[in-house]
Amino acid sequence: MRMPKGFEFGVATSAYQIEGAWSEDGKGPSIWDTFTHGEGNVVDGRTGDVACDHFHRYPEDIQLLKELGVDRYRLSLSWARILPNGVGAVNQRGLDFYKRLIDSLLEAGVRPNVTLYHWDLPQALEDLGGWPNRDVASWFGEYAAVAFDALGDRVDTWATLNEPIALWAGYGLGWFAPGRADRRAGRQAMHNALLAHGEAVSAFCSSAARQGEIGVVLDVWKRHPKTDSLADRELARRGDQDGFGFFMDPLLRGAYSADLLDRLEEEDELPDIRDGDVEAISRPIDYLGLNVYSRVVVDSEQDQAGWAQSDPEPGGNFLDNGNEFYPKSVYDAIMMVRDEYGWRKPIVITENGVFDPDSEGRDPRRDGDRIRYIEGFLEWIARAIEDGADVRGYYLWSLMDNFEWNAGFTKRYGIYGINPETLDRWPKDSAHWYRDVIAAHHAGH
Ligand code: NOJ
Repeated sequence: MRMPKGFEFGVATSAYQIEGAWSEDGKGPSIWDTFTHGEGNVVDGRTGDVACDHFHRYPEDIQLLKELGVDRYRLSLSWARILPNGVGAVNQRGLDFYKRLIDSLLEAGVRPNVTLYHWDLPQALEDLGGWPNRDVASWFGEYAAVAFDALGDRVDTWATLNEPIALWAGYGLGWFAPGRADRRAGRQAMHNALLAHGEAVSAFCSSAARQGEIGVVLDVWKRHPKTDSLADRELARRGDQDGFGFFMDPLLRGAYSADLLDRLEEEDELPDIRDGDVEAISRPIDYLGLNVYSRVVVDSEQDQAGWAQSDPEPGGNFLDNGNEFYPKSVYDAIMMVRDEYGWRKPIVITENGVFDPDSEGRDPRRDGDRIRYIEGFLEWIARAIEDGADVRGYYLWSLMDNFEWNAGFTKRYGIYGINPETLDRWPKDSAHWYRDVIAAHHAGH
Protein backbone atom coordinates (compact mmCIF):
# COMPACT_ATOMS: atom_id res chain seq x y z
CA MET A 1 0.00 0.00 0.00
CA ARG A 2 1.60 3.23 -1.10
CA MET A 3 -0.29 6.49 -1.30
CA PRO A 4 0.78 9.36 -3.52
CA LYS A 5 2.57 12.41 -2.22
CA GLY A 6 0.12 14.83 -0.68
CA PHE A 7 -2.40 12.13 0.23
CA GLU A 8 -3.77 13.06 3.65
CA PHE A 9 -4.49 10.79 6.59
CA GLY A 10 -6.94 11.73 9.29
CA VAL A 11 -9.44 10.58 11.86
CA ALA A 12 -13.09 11.61 12.16
CA THR A 13 -15.62 12.31 14.91
CA SER A 14 -18.85 14.29 15.23
CA ALA A 15 -20.12 16.82 17.75
CA TYR A 16 -22.98 14.94 19.38
CA GLN A 17 -21.02 11.70 19.53
CA ILE A 18 -18.08 13.10 21.52
CA GLU A 19 -18.66 16.60 22.94
CA GLY A 20 -21.03 16.10 25.86
CA ALA A 21 -21.71 19.42 27.66
CA TRP A 22 -25.17 19.15 26.17
CA SER A 23 -26.59 22.19 27.92
CA GLU A 24 -23.44 24.09 28.82
CA ASP A 25 -22.32 27.58 27.86
CA GLY A 26 -25.64 28.54 26.31
CA LYS A 27 -26.09 25.54 24.00
CA GLY A 28 -29.69 24.83 22.99
CA PRO A 29 -31.07 21.27 22.88
CA SER A 30 -30.89 19.29 19.65
CA ILE A 31 -33.17 16.53 18.43
CA TRP A 32 -30.63 13.99 19.69
CA ASP A 33 -30.81 15.46 23.20
CA THR A 34 -34.57 15.09 23.13
CA PHE A 35 -34.46 11.65 21.56
CA THR A 36 -31.91 10.17 23.96
CA HIS A 37 -33.73 11.65 26.96
CA GLY A 38 -36.87 9.76 25.86
CA GLU A 39 -37.57 6.19 26.97
CA GLY A 40 -36.37 3.22 24.97
CA ASN A 41 -34.80 5.02 22.03
CA VAL A 42 -31.21 3.93 22.64
CA VAL A 43 -30.36 0.26 23.23
CA ASP A 44 -28.31 0.78 26.39
CA GLY A 45 -30.38 3.74 27.61
CA ARG A 46 -27.34 6.02 27.42
CA THR A 47 -27.23 9.60 26.12
CA GLY A 48 -24.69 12.02 24.72
CA ASP A 49 -25.02 14.32 27.74
CA VAL A 50 -21.39 13.66 28.63
CA ALA A 51 -20.29 11.41 25.75
CA CYS A 52 -16.47 11.60 25.67
CA ASP A 53 -16.52 14.95 27.44
CA HIS A 54 -14.52 16.28 24.52
CA PHE A 55 -15.93 19.76 25.20
CA HIS A 56 -13.69 19.89 28.28
CA ARG A 57 -10.99 17.42 27.27
CA TYR A 58 -10.26 18.63 23.76
CA PRO A 59 -6.65 19.61 24.60
CA GLU A 60 -5.99 15.99 25.58
CA ASP A 61 -7.65 14.77 22.38
CA ILE A 62 -5.54 17.09 20.28
CA GLN A 63 -2.54 15.56 22.00
CA LEU A 64 -3.72 12.16 20.71
CA LEU A 65 -4.01 13.56 17.20
CA LYS A 66 -0.49 14.86 17.49
CA GLU A 67 0.79 11.50 18.66
CA LEU A 68 -0.91 9.83 15.70
CA GLY A 69 0.70 12.35 13.38
CA VAL A 70 -2.48 12.82 11.35
CA ASP A 71 -2.59 15.56 8.72
CA ARG A 72 -6.29 16.08 9.22
CA TYR A 73 -9.09 15.90 11.74
CA ARG A 74 -12.70 15.75 10.64
CA LEU A 75 -15.14 17.20 13.17
CA SER A 76 -18.64 18.64 13.09
CA LEU A 77 -20.14 21.76 14.61
CA SER A 78 -23.17 21.58 16.84
CA TRP A 79 -25.71 23.90 15.21
CA ALA A 80 -27.52 24.39 18.56
CA ARG A 81 -24.28 25.35 20.31
CA ILE A 82 -23.85 28.21 17.84
CA LEU A 83 -27.51 29.13 17.34
CA PRO A 84 -29.46 27.79 20.35
CA ASN A 85 -32.76 28.46 18.58
CA GLY A 86 -31.46 27.32 15.21
CA VAL A 87 -31.80 30.82 13.77
CA GLY A 88 -31.55 34.33 15.20
CA ALA A 89 -29.36 35.05 18.22
CA VAL A 90 -25.80 33.75 18.00
CA ASN A 91 -24.31 32.15 21.12
CA GLN A 92 -20.85 33.68 21.23
CA ARG A 93 -19.63 31.17 23.83
CA GLY A 94 -20.47 28.36 21.43
CA LEU A 95 -18.52 29.97 18.62
CA ASP A 96 -15.65 30.64 21.03
CA PHE A 97 -15.44 26.94 21.83
CA TYR A 98 -14.97 26.11 18.16
CA LYS A 99 -12.45 28.92 17.75
CA ARG A 100 -10.39 27.55 20.65
CA LEU A 101 -10.65 24.02 19.33
CA ILE A 102 -9.69 24.92 15.78
CA ASP A 103 -6.85 27.22 16.83
CA SER A 104 -5.43 24.46 19.02
CA LEU A 105 -5.67 22.00 16.14
CA LEU A 106 -3.83 24.36 13.84
CA GLU A 107 -1.16 24.95 16.49
CA ALA A 108 -0.71 21.18 16.66
CA GLY A 109 -0.26 21.07 12.88
CA VAL A 110 -3.57 19.31 12.24
CA ARG A 111 -5.88 20.81 9.64
CA PRO A 112 -9.59 20.55 10.35
CA ASN A 113 -12.25 19.41 7.90
CA VAL A 114 -15.46 20.83 9.35
CA THR A 115 -18.92 19.38 8.76
CA LEU A 116 -21.84 21.71 9.38
CA TYR A 117 -24.47 19.07 9.96
CA HIS A 118 -23.90 15.68 11.51
CA TRP A 119 -27.48 14.82 12.54
CA ASP A 120 -28.11 17.19 15.47
CA LEU A 121 -30.83 19.60 14.35
CA PRO A 122 -31.69 22.25 16.97
CA GLN A 123 -34.86 21.13 18.75
CA ALA A 124 -36.31 24.62 18.26
CA LEU A 125 -36.34 23.97 14.50
CA GLU A 126 -37.83 20.52 14.93
CA ASP A 127 -40.63 22.29 16.80
CA LEU A 128 -41.23 24.25 13.60
CA GLY A 129 -41.52 21.06 11.55
CA GLY A 130 -37.85 20.09 11.24
CA TRP A 131 -36.31 18.78 8.04
CA PRO A 132 -39.65 18.07 6.33
CA ASN A 133 -40.36 21.83 6.45
CA ARG A 134 -38.97 23.42 3.30
CA ASP A 135 -37.92 26.49 5.33
CA VAL A 136 -35.06 24.38 6.66
CA ALA A 137 -33.08 25.38 3.57
CA SER A 138 -33.01 29.03 4.60
CA TRP A 139 -32.46 28.15 8.29
CA PHE A 140 -29.46 26.09 7.27
CA GLY A 141 -28.21 28.82 4.95
CA GLU A 142 -28.31 31.29 7.85
CA TYR A 143 -26.40 28.93 10.15
CA ALA A 144 -23.85 28.16 7.44
CA ALA A 145 -23.21 31.86 6.88
CA VAL A 146 -22.61 32.39 10.61
CA ALA A 147 -20.15 29.50 10.69
CA PHE A 148 -18.32 30.61 7.53
CA ASP A 149 -18.01 34.19 8.75
CA ALA A 150 -16.75 33.21 12.18
CA LEU A 151 -14.43 30.34 11.24
CA GLY A 152 -13.73 30.80 7.54
CA ASP A 153 -10.40 32.47 8.21
CA ARG A 154 -9.04 29.32 9.86
CA VAL A 155 -10.84 26.38 8.23
CA ASP A 156 -9.85 25.44 4.70
CA THR A 157 -12.13 22.45 4.14
CA TRP A 158 -15.84 22.27 4.79
CA ALA A 159 -18.63 19.77 4.30
CA THR A 160 -22.30 20.72 4.35
CA LEU A 161 -24.08 17.52 5.37
CA ASN A 162 -22.93 14.18 6.69
CA GLU A 163 -24.84 11.15 5.38
CA PRO A 164 -28.20 12.79 4.75
CA ILE A 165 -29.72 9.31 4.46
CA ALA A 166 -29.87 9.47 8.27
CA LEU A 167 -32.97 11.64 7.71
CA TRP A 168 -34.73 8.59 6.34
CA ALA A 169 -33.90 6.76 9.57
CA GLY A 170 -35.05 9.79 11.60
CA TYR A 171 -38.25 10.81 9.79
CA GLY A 172 -39.17 7.88 7.53
CA LEU A 173 -38.49 4.95 9.85
CA GLY A 174 -38.28 6.44 13.35
CA TRP A 175 -35.03 4.71 14.31
CA PHE A 176 -33.03 7.91 14.78
CA ALA A 177 -33.93 11.32 16.18
CA PRO A 178 -36.49 12.77 16.01
CA GLY A 179 -38.12 9.32 15.91
CA ARG A 180 -40.85 10.02 13.36
CA ALA A 181 -42.03 7.13 11.19
CA ASP A 182 -43.68 8.87 8.26
CA ARG A 183 -42.35 7.84 4.86
CA ARG A 184 -43.61 10.94 3.04
CA ALA A 185 -42.02 13.20 5.64
CA GLY A 186 -38.84 11.18 5.32
CA ARG A 187 -38.62 11.67 1.56
CA GLN A 188 -39.41 15.37 1.91
CA ALA A 189 -36.71 15.70 4.57
CA MET A 190 -34.21 14.15 2.14
CA HIS A 191 -35.13 16.56 -0.64
CA ASN A 192 -35.06 19.53 1.72
CA ALA A 193 -31.63 18.47 2.94
CA LEU A 194 -30.37 18.75 -0.62
CA LEU A 195 -31.90 22.23 -0.88
CA ALA A 196 -30.22 23.15 2.40
CA HIS A 197 -26.91 21.90 1.04
CA GLY A 198 -27.38 24.14 -2.00
CA GLU A 199 -28.12 27.13 0.22
CA ALA A 200 -24.96 26.52 2.22
CA VAL A 201 -22.86 26.26 -0.93
CA SER A 202 -24.32 29.54 -2.09
CA ALA A 203 -23.61 31.17 1.31
CA PHE A 204 -20.06 29.84 1.08
CA CYS A 205 -19.40 31.69 -2.15
CA SER A 206 -20.21 35.04 -0.57
CA SER A 207 -18.42 34.46 2.73
CA ALA A 208 -15.05 34.74 4.42
CA ALA A 209 -14.59 31.02 3.84
CA ARG A 210 -14.68 31.16 0.07
CA GLN A 211 -10.94 30.69 -0.41
CA GLY A 212 -11.33 27.20 1.06
CA GLU A 213 -13.11 24.17 -0.33
CA ILE A 214 -16.57 22.83 0.23
CA GLY A 215 -18.11 19.43 -0.37
CA VAL A 216 -20.76 17.07 0.89
CA VAL A 217 -20.43 13.67 2.56
CA LEU A 218 -22.51 10.73 1.29
CA ASP A 219 -22.35 7.13 2.40
CA VAL A 220 -22.28 4.35 -0.13
CA TRP A 221 -23.34 0.85 0.84
CA LYS A 222 -23.61 -0.66 -2.60
CA ARG A 223 -26.18 -3.42 -2.93
CA HIS A 224 -25.11 -6.70 -4.44
CA PRO A 225 -27.83 -9.13 -5.56
CA LYS A 226 -27.62 -12.41 -3.67
CA THR A 227 -28.39 -14.38 -6.84
CA ASP A 228 -28.62 -13.51 -10.49
CA SER A 229 -32.43 -13.60 -10.37
CA LEU A 230 -34.32 -10.67 -11.80
CA ALA A 231 -35.96 -10.08 -8.41
CA ASP A 232 -32.58 -9.80 -6.62
CA ARG A 233 -31.07 -7.58 -9.28
CA GLU A 234 -34.09 -5.30 -9.21
CA LEU A 235 -33.94 -5.13 -5.41
CA ALA A 236 -30.26 -4.17 -5.55
CA ARG A 237 -30.94 -1.45 -8.09
CA ARG A 238 -33.76 0.00 -6.00
CA GLY A 239 -31.76 -0.22 -2.81
CA ASP A 240 -28.93 1.77 -4.44
CA GLN A 241 -31.41 4.37 -5.66
CA ASP A 242 -32.94 4.81 -2.22
CA GLY A 243 -29.63 4.64 -0.38
CA PHE A 244 -27.45 7.03 -2.35
CA GLY A 245 -28.86 7.61 -5.85
CA PHE A 246 -31.53 9.88 -4.36
CA PHE A 247 -28.74 12.29 -3.36
CA MET A 248 -26.09 11.63 -5.95
CA ASP A 249 -28.31 12.01 -9.00
CA PRO A 250 -29.38 15.62 -8.34
CA LEU A 251 -26.04 16.59 -6.78
CA LEU A 252 -23.76 15.20 -9.46
CA ARG A 253 -26.02 14.83 -12.50
CA GLY A 254 -28.33 17.76 -11.89
CA ALA A 255 -31.48 15.61 -12.09
CA TYR A 256 -33.36 13.03 -10.07
CA SER A 257 -33.67 9.72 -11.88
CA ALA A 258 -37.01 9.61 -13.71
CA ASP A 259 -37.40 6.03 -12.70
CA LEU A 260 -37.02 6.86 -9.00
CA LEU A 261 -39.56 9.67 -9.27
CA ASP A 262 -42.05 7.33 -10.97
CA ARG A 263 -41.65 4.80 -8.21
CA LEU A 264 -42.04 7.42 -5.45
CA GLU A 265 -45.16 8.68 -7.15
CA GLU A 266 -46.60 5.17 -7.32
CA GLU A 267 -45.81 4.66 -3.65
CA ASP A 268 -47.34 8.03 -2.79
CA GLU A 269 -44.02 9.27 -1.39
CA LEU A 270 -43.12 11.83 -4.02
CA PRO A 271 -41.67 14.91 -2.31
CA ASP A 272 -42.63 18.42 -3.28
CA ILE A 273 -39.89 19.28 -5.80
CA ARG A 274 -40.21 22.72 -7.37
CA ASP A 275 -38.83 24.39 -10.47
CA GLY A 276 -35.27 25.46 -9.91
CA ASP A 277 -34.68 23.04 -7.03
CA VAL A 278 -32.25 20.75 -8.79
CA GLU A 279 -30.30 23.71 -10.18
CA ALA A 280 -29.92 25.02 -6.62
CA ILE A 281 -28.92 21.57 -5.39
CA SER A 282 -26.32 20.95 -8.09
CA ARG A 283 -24.30 24.12 -7.58
CA PRO A 284 -20.64 23.19 -8.13
CA ILE A 285 -18.73 21.83 -5.14
CA ASP A 286 -15.01 21.23 -4.76
CA TYR A 287 -14.83 17.64 -3.56
CA LEU A 288 -17.03 14.69 -2.78
CA GLY A 289 -16.73 12.95 0.58
CA LEU A 290 -17.59 9.25 0.65
CA ASN A 291 -18.18 7.20 3.78
CA VAL A 292 -17.67 3.54 2.95
CA TYR A 293 -17.85 0.66 5.41
CA SER A 294 -18.95 -2.34 3.37
CA ARG A 295 -21.58 -3.54 0.90
CA VAL A 296 -25.07 -4.96 1.41
CA VAL A 297 -25.96 -8.32 -0.11
CA VAL A 298 -29.70 -8.24 -0.79
CA ASP A 299 -31.97 -11.26 -1.06
CA SER A 300 -35.49 -10.76 -2.37
CA GLU A 301 -36.64 -13.84 -0.51
CA GLN A 302 -35.71 -12.28 2.84
CA ASP A 303 -36.43 -8.60 2.42
CA GLN A 304 -38.32 -6.42 -0.01
CA ALA A 305 -36.83 -3.03 0.86
CA GLY A 306 -33.24 -3.58 -0.23
CA TRP A 307 -31.79 -2.46 3.12
CA ALA A 308 -31.27 -5.68 5.02
CA GLN A 309 -28.04 -7.64 4.85
CA SER A 310 -28.88 -11.20 3.81
CA ASP A 311 -27.59 -14.15 5.82
CA PRO A 312 -23.83 -14.47 5.61
CA GLU A 313 -22.56 -16.75 2.87
CA PRO A 314 -20.94 -19.76 4.48
CA GLY A 315 -17.18 -19.47 4.00
CA GLY A 316 -17.42 -15.72 3.31
CA ASN A 317 -14.94 -13.30 4.75
CA PHE A 318 -16.24 -12.09 8.10
CA LEU A 319 -14.85 -10.01 10.90
CA ASP A 320 -14.97 -11.14 14.53
CA ASN A 321 -17.87 -8.73 15.08
CA GLY A 322 -19.97 -10.67 12.56
CA ASN A 323 -19.89 -8.09 9.76
CA GLU A 324 -18.73 -8.99 6.30
CA PHE A 325 -15.22 -7.84 5.43
CA TYR A 326 -15.48 -6.53 1.89
CA PRO A 327 -12.76 -3.92 1.37
CA LYS A 328 -13.37 -3.79 -2.37
CA SER A 329 -16.55 -1.85 -1.49
CA VAL A 330 -14.45 1.30 -1.32
CA TYR A 331 -12.95 0.69 -4.77
CA ASP A 332 -16.42 0.02 -6.18
CA ALA A 333 -17.82 3.23 -4.67
CA ILE A 334 -14.97 5.37 -5.97
CA MET A 335 -15.09 3.86 -9.45
CA MET A 336 -18.86 4.15 -9.63
CA VAL A 337 -18.70 7.86 -8.83
CA ARG A 338 -15.97 8.35 -11.39
CA ASP A 339 -17.20 6.16 -14.22
CA GLU A 340 -20.97 6.11 -13.84
CA TYR A 341 -21.41 9.67 -12.57
CA GLY A 342 -18.47 11.10 -14.50
CA TRP A 343 -17.20 12.85 -11.35
CA ARG A 344 -13.65 14.04 -12.08
CA LYS A 345 -13.04 16.34 -9.11
CA PRO A 346 -11.34 15.12 -5.92
CA ILE A 347 -12.83 12.35 -3.81
CA VAL A 348 -12.07 12.06 -0.11
CA ILE A 349 -12.88 8.96 1.95
CA THR A 350 -14.40 10.84 4.86
CA GLU A 351 -15.16 7.76 6.98
CA ASN A 352 -14.20 4.13 7.18
CA GLY A 353 -13.88 1.94 10.23
CA VAL A 354 -15.20 -0.93 12.24
CA PHE A 355 -16.61 -1.64 15.69
CA ASP A 356 -15.07 -4.02 18.21
CA PRO A 357 -16.49 -7.51 18.69
CA ASP A 358 -18.16 -8.24 22.02
CA SER A 359 -16.56 -11.61 22.65
CA GLU A 360 -16.23 -12.49 26.30
CA GLY A 361 -12.76 -12.32 27.82
CA ARG A 362 -11.35 -10.47 24.85
CA ASP A 363 -8.54 -7.97 25.63
CA PRO A 364 -9.98 -4.70 24.31
CA ARG A 365 -6.53 -3.37 23.43
CA ARG A 366 -5.91 -6.19 20.97
CA ASP A 367 -7.86 -5.06 17.91
CA GLY A 368 -6.05 -6.93 15.16
CA ASP A 369 -9.28 -7.25 13.22
CA ARG A 370 -9.52 -3.48 12.95
CA ILE A 371 -5.99 -3.34 11.60
CA ARG A 372 -6.80 -6.05 9.05
CA TYR A 373 -9.91 -4.14 8.06
CA ILE A 374 -8.26 -0.74 7.63
CA GLU A 375 -5.30 -2.21 5.79
CA GLY A 376 -7.67 -3.94 3.38
CA PHE A 377 -9.51 -0.71 2.67
CA LEU A 378 -6.33 1.30 2.23
CA GLU A 379 -5.09 -1.26 -0.30
CA TRP A 380 -8.24 -0.90 -2.36
CA ILE A 381 -8.04 2.89 -2.18
CA ALA A 382 -4.45 2.68 -3.44
CA ARG A 383 -5.67 0.48 -6.25
CA ALA A 384 -8.37 2.99 -7.23
CA ILE A 385 -5.71 5.70 -7.35
CA GLU A 386 -3.51 3.49 -9.53
CA ASP A 387 -6.50 3.02 -11.79
CA GLY A 388 -6.78 6.76 -12.22
CA ALA A 389 -9.16 7.93 -9.48
CA ASP A 390 -8.39 11.24 -7.80
CA VAL A 391 -8.63 10.28 -4.11
CA ARG A 392 -7.04 12.87 -1.85
CA GLY A 393 -7.41 11.56 1.64
CA TYR A 394 -8.67 9.02 4.16
CA TYR A 395 -10.35 9.55 7.53
CA LEU A 396 -10.58 6.67 9.94
CA TRP A 397 -13.78 6.45 11.98
CA SER A 398 -13.07 7.07 14.75
CA LEU A 399 -10.46 8.72 16.94
CA MET A 400 -12.07 7.24 20.06
CA ASP A 401 -14.96 5.09 21.18
CA ASN A 402 -18.02 7.31 21.24
CA PHE A 403 -21.80 7.55 21.32
CA GLU A 404 -22.98 5.40 18.42
CA TRP A 405 -26.48 6.87 18.01
CA ASN A 406 -29.30 4.43 18.77
CA ALA A 407 -26.66 1.80 19.66
CA GLY A 408 -25.43 4.02 22.51
CA PHE A 409 -21.98 2.95 23.66
CA THR A 410 -22.47 -0.68 22.63
CA LYS A 411 -20.63 -0.28 19.33
CA ARG A 412 -17.08 0.93 19.80
CA TYR A 413 -15.33 2.26 16.70
CA GLY A 414 -12.36 4.02 18.33
CA ILE A 415 -8.66 3.43 17.88
CA TYR A 416 -8.56 4.84 21.41
CA GLY A 417 -10.79 3.34 24.06
CA ILE A 418 -12.36 5.28 26.91
CA ASN A 419 -12.44 4.23 30.54
CA PRO A 420 -16.12 4.61 31.49
CA GLU A 421 -15.37 5.78 35.06
CA THR A 422 -12.47 8.14 34.56
CA LEU A 423 -13.07 8.95 30.87
CA ASP A 424 -9.33 8.44 30.37
CA ARG A 425 -8.33 7.61 26.81
CA TRP A 426 -6.12 4.59 26.10
CA PRO A 427 -4.67 3.38 22.81
CA LYS A 428 -5.69 0.15 21.12
CA ASP A 429 -3.11 -1.66 18.95
CA SER A 430 -4.65 0.00 15.91
CA ALA A 431 -3.66 3.46 17.21
CA HIS A 432 0.01 2.46 17.21
CA TRP A 433 -0.36 0.74 13.87
CA TYR A 434 -2.08 3.77 12.28
CA ARG A 435 0.60 6.08 13.67
CA ASP A 436 3.24 3.89 11.97
CA VAL A 437 1.35 3.85 8.66
CA ILE A 438 1.18 7.65 8.68
CA ALA A 439 4.83 8.03 9.67
CA ALA A 440 5.91 5.68 6.87
CA HIS A 441 3.79 7.65 4.40
CA HIS A 442 5.40 10.94 5.44
CA ALA A 443 8.90 9.42 5.43
CA GLY A 444 8.37 7.98 1.96
CA HIS A 445 7.79 11.36 0.29
C1 NOJ B 1 -21.73 6.88 10.00
C2 NOJ B 1 -21.82 8.19 10.72
O1 NOJ B 1 -21.45 9.29 9.97
C3 NOJ B 1 -21.16 8.17 12.08
O2 NOJ B 1 -21.79 9.13 12.84
C4 NOJ B 1 -21.25 6.79 12.68
O3 NOJ B 1 -20.83 6.76 14.00
C5 NOJ B 1 -20.40 5.87 11.85
N1 NOJ B 1 -20.79 5.93 10.45
C6 NOJ B 1 -20.38 4.42 12.31
O4 NOJ B 1 -21.64 3.88 12.22
